[in-house]
Amino acid sequence: MDSEADAFYRELPKVELHAHLNGSVSVQTIEKLLVRKPHLNVERSMTAIGKGQRRTLDECFQVFKVIHQLVDTEEDILMVATDVIKEFAADGVKYLELRSTPREEKNTGLTKKRYVETVLKAIQQCRNEDVDIDVRFLVAIDRRNGAQVAMETVKLAEEFMLSSDGLVVGIDLSGDPTVGHGKDLLPALQSAKNCGLKLSLHLSEVLSQLEETDLLLDLPPDRIGHGTFLHPEVGGSEDLVQKVLKNNIPLELCLTSNVKGQTVPCYAKHHFNHWYQLGHPCVICTDDKGVFATDLSQEYQLAASTFGLSREAVWKLSHQAIDCTFAPDAVKQQLRNKWAELKPQVFQ
Ligand code: IMP
Ligand code: ZN
Repeated sequence: MDSEADAFYRELPKVELHAHLNGSVSVQTIEKLLVRKPHLNVERSMTAIGKGQRRTLDECFQVFKVIHQLVDTEEDILMVATDVIKEFAADGVKYLELRSTPREEKNTGLTKKRYVETVLKAIQQCRNEDVDIDVRFLVAIDRRNGAQVAMETVKLAEEFMLSSDGLVVGIDLSGDPTVGHGKDLLPALQSAKNCGLKLSLHLSEVLSQLEETDLLLDLPPDRIGHGTFLHPEVGGSEDLVQKVLKNNIPLELCLTSNVKGQTVPCYAKHHFNHWYQLGHPCVICTDDKGVFATDLSQEYQLAASTFGLSREAVWKLSHQAIDCTFAPDAVKQQLRNKWAELKPQVFQ
């Protein structure tokens, strides 16, 4: 990256809508966790996938297991969440929707409720310190854990949606896409929708999920994570594409994550281009900035250099992301005002 371009992407005000908390832990924070837990014998190479490296999706999920071992107390979660929020802010992210799967850890007494409370505490602390970023939270359902846990997770999210003063805004469906079937999770997702939680679903992350994708698109979700195999050229179908277009469902697109996780062959073949050319709402995101060793500025720059986007086009992309947030209209308007204020400085 040349340094002038670098500065433009860092100065660009950005919206991050697809960031898993434990996938976003930086090397610096991992170092602090390693000091806290030397007995685990975890090495740094086990928690991130460096430049030029690739892993199978299965290997990526092994990495999360290692990080979960390192992050298993309230103190860890508070530190990790605070660090992640401040790192996004330092990268020019003005609005962040963080997502995480509430975990219970018998060994440390951590409960799912305390897990969510601790993430919200971190968000609140950053607010109190005037960190220049608006952070909201999506409670994640790990598809591996089945229908009952999914329903319990929705209940928990609903409780917090009602009591968190607008911090909890929705549900994420994630986890190993090769495990379980979305149809079992439909009742939980439908009930989330009914109570006013927004839905961001990982969809068509791998091929062979056509039936599941079709079912889940009928909800319909409010946003789609990845959507890698929706279009017919890669094994999806025109019907699926039409459902996405008809409902105007924004896509959260994570270039480096998909390249390193080998669900797309290379940056140039990323499905961003397909949807962008259609004029469909596409939001550039990081997915797991720690695990995939990236940040949002870099992802915008990669999209621009790979697909020949002008600076004005990049600006438009980051501005349009505001419309795709789950924030109330008043917050969206504040963000638009902020973008307008910052524009002269970014383009100077
Ligand atoms: P956490 O929910 O904060 O613990 O973040 C890590 C979790 O996010 C993983 O265990 C997965 O369930 C989920 N996750 C992270 N990246 C991906 C992805 O690319 N696809 C599906 N799930 C993911
Ligand atoms: Zn994801």
